[in-house]
Amino acid sequence: MALEDEFGDVLTKAMRGTRATADALARATGLQASEIDDWRRGRDVPDEAQARALALPLRLDPGKLADAAAQRWHPEHISLPDVRHHPQHPHPSNGYVFFLDGGKRAALVDPAGIPGNLLRILRDGAYHLEYIFVTHKHADHCDATADVAASFPKAKIVMHRADVEAIGSLASSALLVKDGEEVPFGDARIRLLHTPGHTDGSSSYLFKSTLFTGDTLFAGSVGGAYGDASTYEDILNSVRSKIFTLPEDTVLMPGHGPPSKVAWEKEHNPFF
Ligand SMILES: [Fe+2]
Repeated sequence: MALEDEFGDVLTKAMRGTRATADALARATGLQASEIDDWRRGRDVPDEAQARALALPLRLDPGKLADAAAQRWHPEHISLPDVRHHPQHPHPSNGYVFFLDGGKRAALVDPAGIPGNLLRILRDGAYHLEYIFVTHKHADHCDATADVAASFPKAKIVMHRADVEAIGSLASSALLVKDGEEVPFGDARIRLLHTPGHTDGSSSYLFKSTLFTGDTLFAGSVGGAYGDASTYEDILNSVRSKIFTLPEDTVLMPGHGPPSKVAWEKEHNPFF
């Protein structure tokens, strides 16, 4: 799976987050505003020295940004025996089912896309769904919540209060995320982390040593800062304080793009 964000996406997010225009970056670096605009639009990529120069005013890591421009890093393939990934359509996003006891206990992360596809996956696996975890309010992560909930009425919907309006009347029965709280799941526990910045209610869910990050963190990038109250600084702080404090070998399963690990993101993600 290709990285979710290309160099132009990383540049766009960092410029938006730091409110840096191409003209301001040009003045700060001696680069041309027109070439910065081309890179932002994905028409071309900077060379090593240009990428390093851009990184400083954007508060990105110079070496990691140069690696991103040259596409020098891609996470190694990760597959786990107790997590199943499914691509969602028509808005492409990652959905996951994770389970214990061969599926006797299961949980779904981000019910979105064509409901029939999700229900087929859940039925084919004979999963007993105990939880529906929603990482955030965007439609490509929760627009099938009502359909899944109707088919699995015993499954508890978990999401953060700040985003819960996205699931309409189901909001009143949802279990609301309190940061750091755990919910029981067989002989395991799921830890709920509030990781605001992409949206105010963005949340991540930790199952054993796997963290489902929604659009807070992608391999080699972060989600865009679209919060009403939360900001670009918040999304970076969420990653630093809630995700990078987990053990280095924690597997990260994002809402878009391939999985990664905490250690790999520390080493390669240009936002940190
Ligand atoms: Fe999103």
